[in-house]
Amino acid sequence: MSRTRLVRPVGGPMSGLAEIPGSKSQTNRALLCAALAAGTSRLSGVLFADDTEAMLEAVVSLGCDLQIDRQTATLEVTGIGGALSFEKLAIDCRSSGTTSRFLLPVLTAGKGNVVIDGSDQLRSRPFSEQIQALRNLGGTLNELGGPNGLPIEIVADGLEGGTIQISAAESSQFVSGLMLAAPLFEGGLLIELTDTPVSRPYLDLTIEVMKRFGIAITKEGDSVYRIPQGQYRSADMMIEPDASASSYFFAAAAITQGNIRVDGLSRDSWQGDIQFVDVLEALGAQVTWGADWIEVQGDRLSGGTFDLKDFSDTAQTLAAVAAFAESSIEINGIGFIRAKETDRIRAIVTELRKCGVEATELPDGLLIKPNQWRLTGASIDTYDDHRMAMSMALLGLRVPRIEIRDSGCVSKTFPDFFSVLEGLRPTAALGTDAVAVAAIDGPAGSGKSTVARALAVELDLPHFDTGAMYRAVAVAASRQGLDFSDTQAITEVAKTADISIGDKIVVDGIDATEEIRSAKANQLVSMVAANREVRRILVPRQRQWASDLGGGVMEGRDIGTQVFPDAMLKVFLTADLQIRAERRFRETKGQTFDDVLEDLERRDHVDSTRDDSPLEVAPGAVIFDTSNMAIEDVVKELAEMFRSRMEG
Ligand code: DC
Repeated sequence: MSRTRLVRPVGGPMSGLAEIPGSKSQTNRALLCAALAAGTSRLSGVLFADDTEAMLEAVVSLGCDLQIDRQTATLEVTGIGGALSFEKLAIDCRSSGTTSRFLLPVLTAGKGNVVIDGSDQLRSRPFSEQIQALRNLGGTLNELGGPNGLPIEIVADGLEGGTIQISAAESSQFVSGLMLAAPLFEGGLLIELTDTPVSRPYLDLTIEVMKRFGIAITKEGDSVYRIPQGQYRSADMMIEPDASASSYFFAAAAITQGNIRVDGLSRDSWQGDIQFVDVLEALGAQVTWGADWIEVQGDRLSGGTFDLKDFSDTAQTLAAVAAFAESSIEINGIGFIRAKETDRIRAIVTELRKCGVEATELPDGLLIKPNQWRLTGASIDTYDDHRMAMSMALLGLRVPRIEIRDSGCVSKTFPDFFSVLEGLRPTAALGTDAVAVAAIDGPAGSGKSTVARALAVELDLPHFDTGAMYRAVAVAASRQGLDFSDTQAITEVAKTADISIGDKIVVDGIDATEEIRSAKANQLVSMVAANREVRRILVPRQRQWASDLGGGVMEGRDIGTQVFPDAMLKVFLTADLQIRAERRFRETKGQTFDDVLEDLERRDHVDSTRDDSPLEVAPGAVIFDTSNMAIEDVVKELAEMFRSRMEG
């Protein structure tokens, strides 16, 4: 097991150019074609990660010559260029599905004896459809462990092609492997798909790469592929950045209100996973498609239903994004990902739930009903699945205390994932739109006031309690005996009352520090705060306060959403309803616990459903669950976030 890694919340918009390593799928296809070709091929933008190292080792053991330059991510491959023969070879595919499923048919078409094996994880993945197909073509394959899985001994003596019927409902890799091997079969191969394939773009990718290396596949309708017998020719190929790996960065921009660009991808990409960007766009992110780049700008995210059958490697990314959406997201068409590195549907649902997300497994996908108030840190299991680690890390960008166990599993496809992510942390943007304000929003009892005051002391910044302003208006109106349903009268009070907010609250010359916290004020203030005109008067005053003082810690309900959407740090404090009620109960006199609980629920409801500036998590805000935390610890973490934002 590799190390547990704590992902620190970014506290602001992530931005910049994400340097994404080469596509795994293209690297492994190109590498195999180049290895089988006559002559020397040059591959650039190559991915060096566990899955491609497995293929690299394999082609070397088959006798091709490689010049490797990891610095420049280039490879020179001098291919075998003729019949494939080997003697008592053992190939370890590690955990690589592509390596194993591409090599099985290729080796069956050679001559000699070889054992293909892999990790325990790979041993538990499905192979039967491909084994069966190769047997139908006359290949001799002996499972050395359990039936239909690795390790498999191949007693190879060439293969005659013909016609094969195969299902790609479980994995398109079975078909891609047969396509890649088919030029070595006598007479080529006609593949007839027996049902609709999953991940069809990967079949198209295989066709494109093979074409580059001199083999032309013809497609007959949607389900028949004719692959001629032939000799692969060497070629130079530039590998695109990995679109699946890019999904984490586009998602990071989407959920942090950031702006992240990936060079080398475009609408013309061969990779189906770029469709993930369309999903982000449908959710509300802004996407710009360049000739040779894609940029995503985060915005509010809505919900929707998405079929990810063709680009299922991004399903976990979308599930993580869904935790920050404003309505439900259903992902379907992906039942087959239960047979990937792990049961990915079960795994992502289990881990999201640990973080407070209401996620449910569906036979064919999953359903996420986001409630950002409930998000909380957790220790995340990764199931030896790189995509679990990378997608759940996204939660950590906005939720404190998300730790990723066995984070080293990202080495399967993206060894530098965490450092690329760190490199996009927001830098201090003073002088642009960011204001040196820590905006602290949250429901009553979330610890907002205590935390905001202590944070101000810790950071040596002024503190502003905007709720006190609304309370002061309530007090002024109540002193005048006004009817609170008379919105105009209340607005007039907001305009004319003389309110001073400091250590003491003074309303029209009279100390109201205690009065604004009375049960009566508690009762009345929601109505004041729900008054649009009152907010129009008070919000500019709040902004003025911060600009007069050059920043500060400002607490309220709409600081991150309305007052300072560009605050340096936006935080939404939250806590379990029961715990919030207990906190309030300790502070109030003369009310039963049930009264307090009921009052809190009522206020949550009024504050979060009112038409104007409802209490909600500001886009990009850090969501901090204080339920089981000491105030000092919350303050310490927030101070750290604020400082690191200021320092950039
Ligand atoms: O934080 P508090 O309980 O003192 O807030 C009093 C009321 O004012 C509460 O109903 C929420 C509302 N409020 C608001 O709408 N906007 C703010 N910025 C601060 C408080």
